[in-house]
Amino acid sequence: MRSILTSLVRFSLLWWVFGDISEKESIICEVEEECSSTEHPSLPSFLDRWGDFVSTDHPHCVDKNERDCPMKALLNACVKSPDVMLEECPFSCGLCSNYDTEKSQVKTCYGDLQNVNNQGVLEVIRKTQQYMIHQVFVNETYAKIRSSCKNRNVNCSQWAWEGECERNPTYMKKECAPACQTCHWLDIRIRCPFDESSAKERTTWSEPGDLDRFFWSVVRNDTLRTLFSLKVLSGPAEAIEPDGRPGPWVLQLDHFLSAMECERLIDLGHELGFQRSKDIGRIKYDGSTDSYESKSRTSSTAWCTESSVCGKDAIQQKVTQRIEQLVQIPINNSEALQLLRYEENQYYKVHHDYTPLHAGSMAGVRILTVFLYLNDDRLEGGGTNFPSIHNLTVLPNQGRAILWPSVLNDEPGQIDVRTEHQALPVERGVKYAANAWIHQRDFRTPLHMGCGV
Ligand SMILES: *[C@@H]1O[C@H](CO)[C@@H](O)[C@H](O)[C@H]1NC(C)=O
Ligand SMILES: *[C@@H]1O[C@H](CO)[C@@H](O)[C@H](O)[C@H]1NC(C)=O
Ligand SMILES: *[C@@H]1O[C@H](CO)[C@@H](O)[C@H](O)[C@H]1NC(C)=O
Ligand SMILES: *[C@@H]1O[C@H](CO)[C@@H](O)[C@H](O)[C@H]1NC(C)=O
Ligand SMILES: *[C@@H]1O[C@H](CO)[C@@H](O)[C@H](O)[C@H]1NC(C)=O
Repeated sequence: MRSILTSLVRFSLLWWVFGDISEKESIICEVEEECSSTEHPSLPSFLDRWGDFVSTDHPHCVDKNERDCPMKALLNACVKSPDVMLEECPFSCGLCSNYDTEKSQVKTCYGDLQNVNNQGVLEVIRKTQQYMIHQVFVNETYAKIRSSCKNRNVNCSQWAWEGECERNPTYMKKECAPACQTCHWLDIRIRCPFDESSAKERTTWSEPGDLDRFFWSVVRNDTLRTLFSLKVLSGPAEAIEPDGRPGPWVLQLDHFLSAMECERLIDLGHELGFQRSKDIGRIKYDGSTDSYESKSRTSSTAWCTESSVCGKDAIQQKVTQRIEQLVQIPINNSEALQLLRYEENQYYKVHHDYTPLHAGSMAGVRILTVFLYLNDDRLEGGGTNFPSIHNLTVLPNQGRAILWPSVLNDEPGQIDVRTEHQALPVERGVKYAANAWIHQRDFRTPLHMGCGV
């Protein structure tokens, strides 16, 4: 009895909230079983009105018997035997509805409570409900992302109503996918269709030998040699100086940046704000990768993203243009410049810049690292050490650049394990540095499209 009463109260309340006056009267009438059957609403309008909201108590809020439930609901079974119907036909009955009148919020089984501040927002929620129940929960196309398609903000429905799905699609289509009806967007294969074999002509170093050709072109460039006192720290026997290591290419260019440029990059790092560096983590709900603080890396980082004060800085832009010319790869293939700060005793233990999770993505794997040292004054330690290249260590020197590949000359796209490296602990002072991680293909355009890795 008690549960029937609860249902009746909920029914009336919902109706009071969502129905117009005459409908409200008619439903109360039904509840009291005083109306003639001719006053029952038609099936579609009944579903429209009652099939609206889903509660977290009923994960998928679908009718167990899709054929019979609407009819039973129409015949007042929801009111007559709510316990059974709540179990069997929650959708048709709308018994799983959940509207908090005090807070003006609707609870759904796909994400956060939704703020409702006007009728338009309710309409969005109503349509979302239809979309989730009739497409996402039942259509196999959505199987992979079904459980991750959630409104991840209380204001999703309101924003959708205000037109934000169109105005701010990068955020909305992922964070408010139900409200925008863009659950498919969470599937990175659908969001970012990509076929690696057809992208070959846009891929840097796609053929065996390309990598060596690039490094030779730098090493044989007299302008570069004299301008930057170029040194082959490691490379093929024919390329190295007597004290060089035989192994993968590691080039050193001194005075690649002027002191003024170094100071500016350090200042920009402080303007952006250095924050604890992170490592690449697991794959997230939207197919991109997460980041996490790791004990193997204690430095701090500031990302010089395009839209930031740093990205717009003319001196920084000049530096990245110089990198672009040196590596002969479009700057769009590069991640934003990462500005680094290592305080005393901070380090980055042995790691590799190559990330297997990037393989087959639009941008592809990292193929080349350009590392810049921004200061050396009153600095001890903090060298870059390559344990698998005869323990080569490069010392910080203001304006010095070093570059090394992450992939093999003979097998494009495959990791060259020999270029694993570490940032040795700073023994005294503070070390400032920067690096550009360069990918096989355009990194920045996919990032803007929500296809970043
Ligand atoms: C499933 O969803 C896809 C993509 O929206 C659509 O093309 C297809 O027709 C749907 N299938 C059914 C059975 O509704
Ligand atoms: C939702 O919107 C309201 C105002 O419309 C705002 O005060 C609130 O901070 C927003 N909540 C979130 C989590 O964005
Ligand atoms: C040497 O490198 C510079 C800068 O990257 C470039 O402009 C120039 O064309 C190169 N010279 C030759 C002969 O390749
Ligand atoms: C490698 O070089 C580092 C830094 O110079 C040094 O601390 C370490 O002992 C060396 N390791 C080996 C195995 O020689
Ligand atoms: C580089 O990326 C930006 C987006 O960051 C894009 O607008 C631009 O067209 C890209 N340039 C090229 C040459 O692809």
